[in-house]
Amino acid sequence: MTSTETPENLNSPDPAATDAPDPAASNGAPVMLALHQTDLGGPEVLRLTELPRPTPGPGEILVAVHAAGLNPTDFKHRAMRIFLPPPPLTLGWDVSGTVVETGFGVTLFRPGDEVFGMLPYPYGAGSHAEYVTGPTRAFVTKPAGIDHVQAAALPLAALTAWQALVDTADLQAGQRVLIHAAAGGVGHLAVQIAKERGAHVTGTASAPKHDFLRGLGADACIDYRAEDFTDTEERYDVVLDTLGGQTATRSVSVLRPGGVLVSLLPGAEDTLAAAEKAQVRAVTLLVEHDQAGMRAVAELVDRGRLRAHVSATFPLAEGARAHAQGETGRTTGKLVITVR
Ligand SMILES: NC(=O)c1ccc[n+]([C@@H]2O[C@H](COP(=O)([O-])OP(=O)(O)OC[C@H]3O[C@@H](n4cnc5c(N)ncnc54)[C@H](OP(=O)(O)O)[C@@H]3O)[C@@H](O)[C@H]2O)c1
Repeated sequence: MTSTETPENLNSPDPAATDAPDPAASNGAPVMLALHQTDLGGPEVLRLTELPRPTPGPGEILVAVHAAGLNPTDFKHRAMRIFLPPPPLTLGWDVSGTVVETGFGVTLFRPGDEVFGMLPYPYGAGSHAEYVTGPTRAFVTKPAGIDHVQAAALPLAALTAWQALVDTADLQAGQRVLIHAAAGGVGHLAVQIAKERGAHVTGTASAPKHDFLRGLGADACIDYRAEDFTDTEERYDVVLDTLGGQTATRSVSVLRPGGVLVSLLPGAEDTLAAAEKAQVRAVTLLVEHDQAGMRAVAELVDRGRLRAHVSATFPLAEGARAHAQGETGRTTGKLVITVR
């Protein structure tokens, strides 16, 4: 039981960059272009490929993708087996677009609605394409005040920051938080969310990015290339560790007893022992699709308290270039792939 409309304004892809369509693949059914890979490897494994357009199952919506954010997990899953089965793969978890079709039982959205969200992580990837399906409750209405590029930059990174600082650490007004890699995709949104909670925020970044951090509201900046963040009398209530490894272990020493270390990557082997000794709670978080979190993010955007910094956009046909730029690890804010 579905209802449909036809979206317009598709980008014309560069035919040279497009894999030849496989006539047997579509069998007359609707097709779409996707940034697809049949092997693991460098950015060159990504090919703009014609694939069957997905159809929404029960409880799902089909979204015409306008823009899709790029995250480090895209580069990592492109290159190696992590959570997903081996290729063929279409990556991409962030999406902002227009609902085209609704599956059986969907009551929250209708064709034509503008939505943004994060597809279920890790198994729901596929937004680096002209169309994607996902569960209704991975999405919320796109704030009217931002465009699809802005919206697509938010979901995975903002949900990670929200789930780390609010759901996990329960960050309170007046508390002190240290955010590692504060100029990156997660970090720059985490700074804004922490400030909105009324916290005192310290961020690490290379010196040229400190003005950017202060512009986001950071109270203090540490140049991680010139200073050791543990060389301080400061004791934080919360550390958001985007780096893992020894940064996780070393972060324990700057937390007060009872403080919380939320890591996004595995810590070193001695992290948990160090945390136990220091009476600190140390956890590793994996972001989840989350409609309540997306509503909170959208509400912050509506109130002008949260904004993604998009440092570059790339058309879908140049997705490989976006991956190459992203995996330098130097991105300020976010990179976004534009589709329509
Ligand atoms: N567990 C999860 O669910 C989850 C969710 C989201 C992200 N992650 C992971 O978290 C990490 C960060 O993600 P992201 O999207 O924020 O990455 P990103 O946007 O690629 O981060 C880039 C930023 O990292 C900074 N940086 C690099 N090395 C640094 C260091 N040693 N100290 C301080 N800053 C440093 C860079 O600043 P400079 O140019 O100044 O060096 C740059 O601005 C990634 O590994 C990602 O896979 C995990």
